[in-house]
Amino acid sequence: MLQVFASSVLLSNHLRKPYLCPQALTPESVAKIGNIELGDFPLLLAPMEDVSDPPFRALCKKYGADMMFTEFISSEGLIRNAAKSTQKLDIYEYERPVGIQVFGAELEPMIESTRIITETNPDLVDINFGCPVKKVVCKGAGAAILQDIPKMVRLTEAVVKATHLPVTVKTRLGWDESSKYIVEVAERLQDVGIQGISIHGRTRSQMYKGEADWTLIAEVKNNPRMHIPVFGNGDIDSPQKAVEYKNRYGVDGVMIGRASIGYPWVFREIKHYHRTGEMLPPPTVDERVDAAAQHLEMSVKWKGERLGVLEMRRHYANYFKGLKNFKQVRTALVEMDSSAEILACLDEVRLNYSDADFVGV
Ligand SMILES: Cc1cc2nc3c(=O)[nH]c(=O)nc-3n(C[C@H](O)[C@H](O)[C@H](O)COP(=O)(O)O)c2cc1C
Repeated sequence: MLQVFASSVLLSNHLRKPYLCPQALTPESVAKIGNIELGDFPLLLAPMEDVSDPPFRALCKKYGADMMFTEFISSEGLIRNAAKSTQKLDIYEYERPVGIQVFGAELEPMIESTRIITETNPDLVDINFGCPVKKVVCKGAGAAILQDIPKMVRLTEAVVKATHLPVTVKTRLGWDESSKYIVEVAERLQDVGIQGISIHGRTRSQMYKGEADWTLIAEVKNNPRMHIPVFGNGDIDSPQKAVEYKNRYGVDGVMIGRASIGYPWVFREIKHYHRTGEMLPPPTVDERVDAAAQHLEMSVKWKGERLGVLEMRRHYANYFKGLKNFKQVRTALVEMDSSAEILACLDEVRLNYSDADFVGV
């Protein structure tokens, strides 16, 4: 299943420009998941349903994501060979290191789907124990498992045993305010063999409300029994916040979700700020047009013309956020049915807008 996505130019451009880290890295300062070395401050692209598909991941990789995950894939769907689930297994050589995320509530489907995932040859298998949405939770999967820690441990152990690949877990602080057991949970999952954990600093009850609380994530990291990397997740939306949270909470790296939607430059901006203490200027109109066009072209290649065009509609507003007098163009972009027409419209944006048209620039 591992294939090279058509955009090989993108691949070679990216690979020729490695990020240079000025500090000497000691073995202890390099985050490692199994044998996967991630550097001293890895930035992970969060798994996001209907967002972190191959076209979007290609852009995030280009702009500096160190490790990426597929959107979550149903274990039941995989073993039934459902097209919607198997298509999500598509990963490409240039994406490495890349993890495939699986969710489920039952032992046998989790084991069988882990075998299917392993045949696809990602760098790791990630288990979703954090999804709060009803359609997942009501089946006992995702964050629902946080109500039954022994089951969570059993499922994790079974997945670890079903693959030779490193297994990681993505989860939340707990089910609700009264059950924030993440410190103990992380330890127990480490004991059955996971090699990394990403923690979203909210409970299931919070969904996405309130502010993510990173203090318990720090407690997991500072637990002297923990030796696997701990990645913090939740509300990172600027280079300053990423670096501040890394330093304040001591995590091995940060995982970024919503801030990357329509703004894959967030990764390079954080890296630059971390290296130099300075902010990069925001992407130009040209760069935004290039990214939106590339995203559209890759979506069409991967999903076909109709679906590729349709599913790109939600992204234009994000790519051009802050651009003055853009509303009419945005409306036009989401009403067009052909990618050729949209690409021509994007070229007009390039001609008609300048970098000074951004609010706050
Ligand atoms: C549209 C969307 C889809 C998501 N899908 C998944 C998913 O498939 N698997 C998962 O583990 N988390 C999923 N999440 C949660 C994110 O991975 C992340 O934990 C959350 O957005 C908090 O990080 P952020 O504040 O950086 O966005 C999703 C979030 C969003 C906004």
